[in-house]
Amino acid sequence: MDIMEMLAARRTYRRFEQKAVPQDVIDDLIEAVRLSSCGANRQAVRLVIVNKPEDVARVQPLVKWAAYLPPEQGTPKADEQPTLFVAVVQDTSIPGDLDTDTGISLANLTLAAWAKGVGSCIMGAIDRPRLTELLGLTGCQKLHTMVALGYPSHTARVVPMTGETGVKYHLDENRDYCVPKRSAEEIARYL
Ligand SMILES: Cc1cc2nc3c(=O)[nH]c(=O)nc-3n(C[C@H](O)[C@H](O)[C@H](O)COP(=O)(O)O)c2cc1C
Repeated sequence: MDIMEMLAARRTYRRFEQKAVPQDVIDDLIEAVRLSSCGANRQAVRLVIVNKPEDVARVQPLVKWAAYLPPEQGTPKADEQPTLFVAVVQDTSIPGDLDTDTGISLANLTLAAWAKGVGSCIMGAIDRPRLTELLGLTGCQKLHTMVALGYPSHTARVVPMTGETGVKYHLDENRDYCVPKRSAEEIARYL
């Protein structure tokens, strides 16, 4: 697929088919992060893969979905839950601009997933203390984000941002996500 088509369709997905993400896709996610650019090539990003169904179920109550929507619309129901979580962790013993490095890793990971038809939701609204314990993170390992993944059971599309929409995503009549984005003219100018 053309990269611009990939970028347009690689949206955030929040409802999933109850079908496991296979090992070869998980391998791709790890490789996408392993190959990521980072300051001074220091490579401080670490991953914890949560793919056993019983572990995925333990993570589910520790993440918060879709702050712009009421829970009955934005929170996946029992048969819509992600089937894989990837914890994105920073090794803070390594110096550098770790948040920039981590952002690049997240972009690579979610694009590699989407290239295999796997949708994702990067999650910052998470119970860090309880997840840190559950994931067995110690010492200099700092939990940055969780990424929820699975085969989407809805679509998502970019719509123009208007005075009415503002930045808030919403669901259409089919419960598909509409994600307002600012115009090219608003975000870029030529000197
Ligand atoms: C750093 C970061 C944290 C996010 N945290 C959450 C979250 O906790 N829960 C959630 O449902 N979505 C979360 N999102 C998804 C955003 O809401 C989503 O990216 C945004 O609405 C734009 O949609 P798009 O990804 O389809 O462009 C997060 C995204 C990023 C990049």
